[in-house]
Amino acid sequence: MTRKKIVAGNWKMNLQLNDAIQLIDDIVSNSKDLSGVELMVFPPALFLLEIAKIKNELTVGVQNFYPKESGAFTGEISITQIKNCGASHVLIGHSERREIFHESEELIKQKVDAAILHEIGVVFCCGEPLHIRENESQSSYVKQQLIDSLFHLSDAEIQTCVIAYEPIWAIGTGRTATVDQAEEMHSAIRSWITEFYGIEIANSISILYGGSCNASNAKELFTCQNVDGGLIGGASLQAESFITIARSF
Ligand code: PGA
Repeated sequence: MTRKKIVAGNWKMNLQLNDAIQLIDDIVSNSKDLSGVELMVFPPALFLLEIAKIKNELTVGVQNFYPKESGAFTGEISITQIKNCGASHVLIGHSERREIFHESEELIKQKVDAAILHEIGVVFCCGEPLHIRENESQSSYVKQQLIDSLFHLSDAEIQTCVIAYEPIWAIGTGRTATVDQAEEMHSAIRSWITEFYGIEIANSISILYGGSCNASNAKELFTCQNVDGGLIGGASLQAESFITIARSF
């Protein structure tokens, strides 16, 4: 079974509207001949409508939402609102949401369920902080994140999800996981999917690597058997590096 290759750009809280439009224009015009790779972008939600208008073949998602249908939740946006404005995917469980905004496993699980209910694709982020890596308990840590918030899904539901492994010590630090570290965790994640859902489903789910992945190291990371693409932060803010990464398979 061939898995989808995906390169996703997480723009985080960067760019002004004009820059975002320029960036999506540049990505669209420089990726026309790219085949076999799905490009996703996760702009600030405020820019969603404008980006959705010009996205062409690109998949557009948001970085966050609140898992209630509607109501008195000042400042939040719902899954139906983001769907209504052109998003087909969401990032869930990003370490910045977990750490800075104290999102619990339970809230993350509710977000997964809300996205599934409304047929929005989930890019589920997991990954360990530095102290967990240093005491070599990263495997049980990441497995627990998956069990707590993702592995309750049914066979059909989990197959609509993408998993992104992002070691926190590698995010925005310039310190990428080595090829061995990435492959070790990605193959472990695939073995846990196999344990819960069987080998066929495990082989169908794309697992992305994230954390200081850039135009220079993507090629090496993408040679790993179980790395199906990347979730890119800093290097997704320029069309050239983002497209170079997408051409690194
Ligand atoms: P980075 O971010 O590529 O800037 O390390 C990745 C992410 O947080 O998704």
